Amino acid sequence: MKREITGGLQLYTDYQWVWELVSSREEYESLAEYVITQIKDHEGHPTASLLHLGCGSGNMDHHLKQHFAVTGVDLSPDMLSSARKKNPECDYHTGDMRTFSSSKRFDAVIIPDSIDYLRSPAEMQQVFGNAHKQLKPGGLLLAIVGYDPENFPQNRTTVETASQKGVDITFIENNYIPDSQDPSFEATFICLIRDQRHLKTMIDVHTLGLFRKDTWFKELERAGFDGVLFQDGLLEMVVQEGAFMLIGKKPD
Ligand SMILES: C[S@@+](CC[C@H](N)C(=O)[O-])C[C@H]1O[C@@H](n2cnc3c(N)ncnc32)[C@H](O)[C@@H]1O
Repeated sequence: MKREITGGLQLYTDYQWVWELVSSREEYESLAEYVITQIKDHEGHPTASLLHLGCGSGNMDHHLKQHFAVTGVDLSPDMLSSARKKNPECDYHTGDMRTFSSSKRFDAVIIPDSIDYLRSPAEMQQVFGNAHKQLKPGGLLLAIVGYDPENFPQNRTTVETASQKGVDITFIENNYIPDSQDPSFEATFICLIRDQRHLKTMIDVHTLGLFRKDTWFKELERAGFDGVLFQDGLLEMVVQEGAFMLIGKKPD
């Protein structure tokens, strides 16, 4: 048996093919619909151009591109290579949401499922400040925070399976706070990969930030946005219990 333990984001790089098997455009449809409705409900002027930070392999962009001209940014060239195949109409760039810069100005910036990777208020400030710079006056920032320390699913474990071309995958995700004094948690992905008779296992530990709603909100307003914090049953149903959304409007 071969085993590989990693502490990076291997699921988005060397094992991106596993991500491709366990995620799908269909799975992202309800989140995309939620985001589209929220943009239309909160926009000050019609949204035509949209910057998607942490766009991954483009599953959400498949839905977003029906409504907006989408520019996607992600750290992982492997995720982006899949995204480009799925959405040749979108404009993709390798980059970090904390530092990405474009000469273009957008009507909206969204961070729908990757902002939990930020590890400190200083990083929030970098991302919100950067998003503010990339927006047109009156533009909208929408970010969804998946986990709330006051409602954290300690030790929650989910399992799913997938198969393709003779390879069977068992994909396990576990969420855990190892140290209650540290504002972070581990999302650990364990993958059993069975190729014919051979079993290979992969363990990938992602460390993500875990901050209270008021910390997020303070940093949003400090970056110059008029902010709204939002939590409703539909969002929790689409993402998970405890998820909340930050909406920031750049003043005209
Ligand atoms: C859950 S995945 C997004 C999946 C995406 N919705 C899709 O359709 O495939 C989170 C993504 O955030 C990206 N990411 C994490 N930290 C980032 C950062 N600082 N800047 C840009 N992308 C980042 C990862 O590379 C990964 O592709």
